Amino acid sequence: MRKKMDKQKQIIEMFDSIAPTYDSANRILSLGIDVAWRKEACKKAFEYFGEDSPSVILDVACGTGDMILHWERNAKKFQKDFGKIIGIDPSNGMLEVAREKLKNQLESRKVELFLGEAKNLTNIEKQSVDILSIAYGLRNVVDIKEALGEFARVLKKGGVLVILEFTKKEKENFLDKMMGFYTKKVLPIIGGLLSKNYRAYKYLPDSIDGFLTSSMLIEELNKLGVQMKFIKGYSANISTLLIGVKQQNE
Ligand SMILES: C[S@@+](CC[C@H](N)C(=O)[O-])C[C@H]1O[C@@H](n2cnc3c(N)ncnc32)[C@H](O)[C@@H]1O
Repeated sequence: MRKKMDKQKQIIEMFDSIAPTYDSANRILSLGIDVAWRKEACKKAFEYFGEDSPSVILDVACGTGDMILHWERNAKKFQKDFGKIIGIDPSNGMLEVAREKLKNQLESRKVELFLGEAKNLTNIEKQSVDILSIAYGLRNVVDIKEALGEFARVLKKGGVLVILEFTKKEKENFLDKMMGFYTKKVLPIIGGLLSKNYRAYKYLPDSIDGFLTSSMLIEELNKLGVQMKFIKGYSANISTLLIGVKQQNE
């Protein structure tokens, strides 16, 4: 228990320390490829949500607010109105950058930001969220089962869960090994130089190795009444999009 708490504290502190350079390092390391993945995540979520417009979108592990901006931009693009977007993250450093980037949205109250962990969404009422997203955040959550339980609790029946994540491979093929070389050897050096924090960028491939495979994640969600509707791997399955819907009888 104490070990888990220490591990989570260290992860949050690591994000605090890289927060000022996070966006620029991310842009260089991902070469902007993630924009298309995020756009498809929003498009598919709106499709599975149906005709209505979502009143509450919750972005857990919102970090510096990138996914929130994607929700806003794509809601316009796919002609969906939304009530508000709530962002939650336990790193004050990451939230500080988000507050600066989302100044106008915060003023107009279309966006709200809170400090908090995925396993403890206490300020969100049960069955109050239409769409819940977590982009590249779940790997960092130490108490993952508790967090998934919270997602199922706050989602409305018929609500949509969107997970974008670097999931662990079931079996590695040649292309996976090449990608593994990039994430394990190249990325920590470039990320380390940009952020002056090699350990933080070494943590990324290590955390993928320690994470669940897509099928393990799907099984956990199924137990909680969230049925998987759409799964897609991108760039030799380095990133996976999973879309689930909370069942009506839960
Ligand atoms: C790689 S960043 C992703 C940020 C953002 N979602 C994006 O798409 O750019 C991971 C985020 O997970 C957050 N995080 C770490 N532990 C967490 C936890 N237990 N619950 C929720 N978020 C967590 C970090 O603070 C960080 O902002």
